[in-house]
Amino acid sequence: MLSIVLLALTGAVSISAQTGPKIVLSNDDGWAVAHIRAQHTALAAAGYNVVLSCPALNQSGTGSSSRTPTVLTTPCEFDTCPVGSPATGFNASEPRLNYVNAFPVDAAKFGIETLAPQFFDGSKPDFVVSGPNVGSNLGLDTLFSGTVGAAAEAALEGIPSAAFSGATGDQLSYTTLTTSPTSANTEAALLYSALTVKVLAVLLASPAPVLPPGIVLNVNFPPAANCTSADAVQFVLTRIYYDLFARDVEACGSTRLPTESAVVALPGCFASVSVFHAATKLDANATMQAVVLGKLGSLLGCSGNSLVSQDRI
Ligand SMILES: *[C@@H]1O[C@H](CO)[C@@H](O)[C@H](O)[C@H]1NC(C)=O
Ligand SMILES: *[C@@H]1O[C@H](CO)[C@@H](O)[C@H](O)[C@H]1NC(C)=O
Ligand SMILES: *[C@@H]1O[C@H](CO)[C@@H](O)[C@H](O)[C@H]1NC(C)=O
Ligand SMILES: *[C@@H]1O[C@H](CO)[C@@H](O)[C@H](O)[C@H]1NC(C)=O
Repeated sequence: MLSIVLLALTGAVSISAQTGPKIVLSNDDGWAVAHIRAQHTALAAAGYNVVLSCPALNQSGTGSSSRTPTVLTTPCEFDTCPVGSPATGFNASEPRLNYVNAFPVDAAKFGIETLAPQFFDGSKPDFVVSGPNVGSNLGLDTLFSGTVGAAAEAALEGIPSAAFSGATGDQLSYTTLTTSPTSANTEAALLYSALTVKVLAVLLASPAPVLPPGIVLNVNFPPAANCTSADAVQFVLTRIYYDLFARDVEACGSTRLPTESAVVALPGCFASVSVFHAATKLDANATMQAVVLGKLGSLLGCSGNSLVSQDRI
């Protein structure tokens, strides 16, 4: 009896503590991978009011596909729910952890339209965080990435959003965060979740609107082993596609931004931030890039390699 009362009290405390900005968290790797659970924990620990809404199964590479969620005909990934489970469901002891048995776009949509009002007192989320994805989403990958698809969906629904991806990791169960706390995968999950929190803090502290309507960020983190700590990561403003004729915002002494692929591949510890249109998934123009440069300026630096800005994909 006593333990039940204590549990109820603990639950109440953890919910009321989440008074910060309201975040829906999604991805395409599925609701039970280590990277997304580490992100959920890091956002809650940083004071965000966060609810996770992710696919029940691995939906990597499904882009902006969409369908009505359906009853599970296989178990959820890593056996986290049995066959026959409802189309959407949650962890009974942590109702902020939700699955949606459909595509990433549908998980983001369910988070925004159904879960947000329920958890955020009838209001919309302030921001949708998609990822960190297990594996980079650079260049053409962005067209097929469900993590990018979920972020784009949010922006199309009027909620500012960003897709985050990290070079290091495997689609491993969240249980490995505790069973293998010093593994490369766990260390990458912890580094990337800290970096996402860092980007979000700067972005949400900037003057409203958080991002121009329909404009999304694609953020890629470098291999975790290349970085000694979250503070060692240098963020660089980039573009998704190489374009010989592009006139980008002036940054680092050039009006040709480096490609995200070139920056993340550099020796050292560089993360890329590209600015794109939710509707087309193509690079935004210099005006939109300038808005982001203004907002994230304190975080952004140069790759220190002038060749990169002229470089190929
Ligand atoms: C998840 O799906 C992608 C795309 O189909 C596939 O490449 C990857 O191997 C899958 N992951 C697992 C753990 O099965
Ligand atoms: C549900 O939450 C409990 C309590 O935090 C945890 O022990 C369990 O592993 C979680 N299961 C899933 C599938 O999230
Ligand atoms: C960065 O990581 C890549 C891939 O893991 C590796 O080949 C490269 O040597 C690393 N560079 C540095 C400077 O650590
Ligand atoms: C840049 O893009 C924005 C958003 O799509 C658009 O409203 C604006 O007209 C564009 N500016 C120029 C100079 O093309």
